Amino acid sequence: MSGTRENWGSRFGFVMAAAGSAVGLGNMWGFPYKAGEHGGAFLIIYLALVMVFGLSLVVAEFVLGRASQRSPVGAFRIMAGRGWPALGVLGIATAFVILSFYIVVAGWTVAYIGLMARGALAGGQPEAMNDIFNAFVTRPIAPIVYAGGFMIASAAVVIGGVSRGIERTSKLLMPMLFVILIVLALRSVTLPGAGVGLSYFLVPDWSAVTGATWTAAISQVFFSLSLGMGAMLTYSSYMPREHNLPRNASLVVTLDTLVALLAGLAIIPAVFAVGLQVDAGPSLTFITLPAVFAQMPGGVYFGVLFFILLAIAALTSAVSLLEVVVSYFVDEHNMRRAPVTVLCALLVFALGVPSSLSMGVWSDNTIFGQSFLDLMNFISTGVMMPIGGLLIALCVGWVVGPKAIEALKSHPDQAMPLAGLWLFILRFVAPVGIAWILLQSFIG
Ligand code: TRP
Repeated sequence: MSGTRENWGSRFGFVMAAAGSAVGLGNMWGFPYKAGEHGGAFLIIYLALVMVFGLSLVVAEFVLGRASQRSPVGAFRIMAGRGWPALGVLGIATAFVILSFYIVVAGWTVAYIGLMARGALAGGQPEAMNDIFNAFVTRPIAPIVYAGGFMIASAAVVIGGVSRGIERTSKLLMPMLFVILIVLALRSVTLPGAGVGLSYFLVPDWSAVTGATWTAAISQVFFSLSLGMGAMLTYSSYMPREHNLPRNASLVVTLDTLVALLAGLAIIPAVFAVGLQVDAGPSLTFITLPAVFAQMPGGVYFGVLFFILLAIAALTSAVSLLEVVVSYFVDEHNMRRAPVTVLCALLVFALGVPSSLSMGVWSDNTIFGQSFLDLMNFISTGVMMPIGGLLIALCVGWVVGPKAIEALKSHPDQAMPLAGLWLFILRFVAPVGIAWILLQSFIG
């Protein structure tokens, strides 16, 4: 293991990279469709869960990463000792599985930039958009080519390394993403008839809340903040001691939440304004929204911008998932970054192929009644990620324990007023809460 480990060049660079990991398809696609499905109280429940569980777990992963200066496997060995490195392996496996279907969906967003720009989606009703979507994703080859292209782009960034690859890319792309998103949100909320959608999104309606609202919100918090599998841990392992850790964590959580909120504003009022259904579920992004753009003045331009936005968000997230896998081989087996990255990318891509085919030619081969893509999604985000999050909370809360509070500090006499509350959440509140989601997802 080499003595000098690469670090982020600046605090801004770290925050952009970590926010780049967090801000992804989860924010632009998952959050708006869930808020649309569950109605007004989803937002407030989501915000509460972000503040209690989300922030605490981001800080926990940051502590493990920065104090150990290692990627997950080494971090758990150094911080918690025997047995715990297995949790790092679980994280690597989770990253691998998530990335395999993430590149497939990310590939669709790239394809949609082209479809939009060529005018193939102009003047359509949702039924027509549904046909276009299905015609594309059921094709055997094209979606795989897009997924492969996306994998290559992500690998290129990771090969560039931490500061020259990931940090530089994030510093360029994340501000762009913010600008595009603000333009889209302004367009959406100023459409005639947007008001109904605004109040649907923002005004809590407790009558619509069920157990499913809470489970949807908490799993959204995990996915959106890239928690439970060591992505935040890996990024913080390159964080220098001088950085104010709790402040970095709050910044990342705030940015991710702000982006989800803006994505909701960009999408939900626009859907209402053109009189379409906001509770379409996952198809909101690829079927409802193109129909919305088709009916909005200048919609082609906003549509192209929207899918560029999605592709950017997906790229910086895919990079973080790949970095978790790559950093393990670099840290623990002293392997060179470039060849390891190429090999990992090839394996991830190979696992992505059946996910892509499961939308079309292989759609008859279901496993437990689910397509391969849905199954990969369920196993990773419904099972592996919550288990990882639960164990990380227990590890930092009980095994690292009060020492973790020292590791929060940049210098020994820095005041940590809320550290006791943080440890309490990790010890009791988070484990119980996460165990409950896991139960729900098995019952469901
Ligand atoms: N957070 C990203 C999103 O919202 C996805 C993501 C990146 C992720 N890295 C992760 C999810 C690690 C879980 C774990 O789309």
